Amino acid sequence: MSTRVERERAPDKARPEEGVPGAPTFVYRDHLLHCEETSLEDLYRTIGPAYVYSARRLTENASRVRHAFSRAETLVAYAVKANTNPILLRLFYEMGLGFEVSSGSELSITLAGGAPRESVVVNGNARTDDELVQVAESGAYLVSVDSEEEAARLEAAAAWLEKQGRLTTPVRAALRVNPDVDAKVHPDLATGIAESKFGLPPDRVLAWYAHPDWTPHLRWVGIHVHVGSQILDAQPLLDTLGECVDVIERARSRGAKIEVLNLGGGFGVDYDGKGGLALERYADAACLVAKSQGLKLVVEPGRYLVADACALVGQVLFVKRGTRSFAVTELGMNDLIRPSLYDAHHAIVPVREPKPRDERIEMDVVGPVCESGDYLAKGRKMPPLEPGDLVAVTGAGAYGYVMASNYNGRGRLPEALVDRKGVRIIRRGETWKDLIRLASDLPVRLDAEPAPEIERAPAAAHPSTPAAPARAGGAIPVFRPRAMAQAISDGLRRRRLGSSHASEEQKPTPAPKRPKNK
Ligand SMILES: Cc1ncc(COP(=O)(O)O)c(C=O)c1O
Repeated sequence: MSTRVERERAPDKARPEEGVPGAPTFVYRDHLLHCEETSLEDLYRTIGPAYVYSARRLTENASRVRHAFSRAETLVAYAVKANTNPILLRLFYEMGLGFEVSSGSELSITLAGGAPRESVVVNGNARTDDELVQVAESGAYLVSVDSEEEAARLEAAAAWLEKQGRLTTPVRAALRVNPDVDAKVHPDLATGIAESKFGLPPDRVLAWYAHPDWTPHLRWVGIHVHVGSQILDAQPLLDTLGECVDVIERARSRGAKIEVLNLGGGFGVDYDGKGGLALERYADAACLVAKSQGLKLVVEPGRYLVADACALVGQVLFVKRGTRSFAVTELGMNDLIRPSLYDAHHAIVPVREPKPRDERIEMDVVGPVCESGDYLAKGRKMPPLEPGDLVAVTGAGAYGYVMASNYNGRGRLPEALVDRKGVRIIRRGETWKDLIRLASDLPVRLDAEPAPEIERAPAAAHPSTPAAPARAGGAIPVFRPRAMAQAISDGLRRRRLGSSHASEEQKPTPAPKRPKNK
C-alpha cells in the first residue's frame, strides 16, 4: 500500500502482475509515467488536468483488506466519505463490499447505486430529524449512535415511523465507544481521545446498555469504535481492540446482546515512503478476538482502498525563482486541500521521467489560488521543471475530489478511470457554467403555509413541543418529536444522578429484571 512511483521492472515470474499488493500503480515506461497501460501524457493531451484512477489498484486494495480479515465473519464497509464517485462505489459493490456512510446524502448516493441496505453501516455524530427518519427507515445493517441524546432522538424517529406503519424492522444500533486511545495521528484526525467530540466513555456505554427498554424500537446489537484516520502504528488499534473486548464482556455480563463489533477504519497508507500500517498484524488480532468472542466484525476503510489508486495530473505553468523557488502549477488547493489543511505529504513526480543525474532543486509546488496557503508541497526537492511539464500528485484518491471546492471560481476537475479496456471519464469536469447553474432569484415567502402533503409528527401536537417549521418542497416529512426525546433523556439524566431521588411519577419505566452480574 504505497503511493510511490517506480520504474517498470522486468516481469517477475514469482510475482504475477495482478492481485499483488504493493505492485506499483503509476510506473515509468519508456520514460513516461503510465497508469496501468495508459500514458498520462497522452491522457492529459486528450482530457487536460484530471484525477486519474487505476481500477486494478482499487481492486487489489479491496482484495487485500478482505483477505486480511477473512479469518472471521467480516463486513468490509468502504467508507464512502473518502471518495463518493458512483462508478468507484459500483466497482466495490460488484466485489461484494459493504459501505459506510456518514450522512443522509451519502446514504442516498450509496443506495441509489444499488447497494443492498443490509450491506450499509450508518455513522455520524449528529443527524437532522429528517436524516434520523431516513436512517431509521433504511434497514441498514448497523446504525452507530454517538451519544445518549442521539439514541433518544433515533428512538423517537423509529417510534414515529412505526406509527406511520413505515418501520419494517427494529433499528440495529451500536453505541460509539470513545476508548481514550491516542492513535498518534494529526490532531485533527484523532477521534478516539477523551477530548474528541466523538463517542462515549465505556462506562456510559455500559450504563446505557443496561436499559434496552428505554428504546424499544432500537436493538442494541453492537458497539462501534473509530479512533482516527491515517493510523500508521498498529499498537493503538490493538489497544482499542482490547478496550472493546472489555466493554463487550462487561455489557454481556449485564445482559446486553452484543453480536457485532464495528472497528471503524483509519488504516494508514504510505504517502511518503516511510511505510503504511501493518494491516495483517492488526487484522489477525481482530479476527482472533471475533472468533473467541463469537462476534461479527465490521471494518470501515476509506483511504486504504482509494488513496494510492489515483494521481492528480496537471501542468507546470512556470517556475518563479527568488528567495524561494516556486513551481507554479495549474493544480491548486481547491483540487487537493490535504497539504494546506493537514500539512499532508503527497509525492509529486514529473510525468516525463527525470534523469537520475539531474540536480534536485528545493522549491514549493504551488497553485493559482489567491491564498498563501495554496500549496501542494513545501520545500520539496524537485527535478528541474519547465513551463508545460506535466506533474502527477500521487495518493490523491482519498479525500481529494470529495474535498475539492469551487473557490476562485474554479470548476472541479474531471475524474478518469483506467482499466484493462481503456480509459473512461467517470465524472465530467465543471465549467464556469456549472458554477452558475444553481443560481436563482426566487422570492421566498416566509409566511407560506406548509405544503398540504407534509406529514406532521404526532408529537408536534404536544403543547410543550415547538411547532414544526414550514418547509418548502413537501417531500421531506417534518419531524420534531422533541417531547418524546426530552422524556427519554430526562429519564437518562435521572439515572445518572441516581434514581432514588426521583419522585415516583418522574421515574422512567423500570428496566426488566436481569440476572445479577456474574
Ligand atoms: C466513523 C468512520 N469510519 C471510517 C472512516 C474512514 O477513515 P479512513 O478513510 O481513514 O479509513 C472515518 C473517517 O474519518 C470515520 O469517521
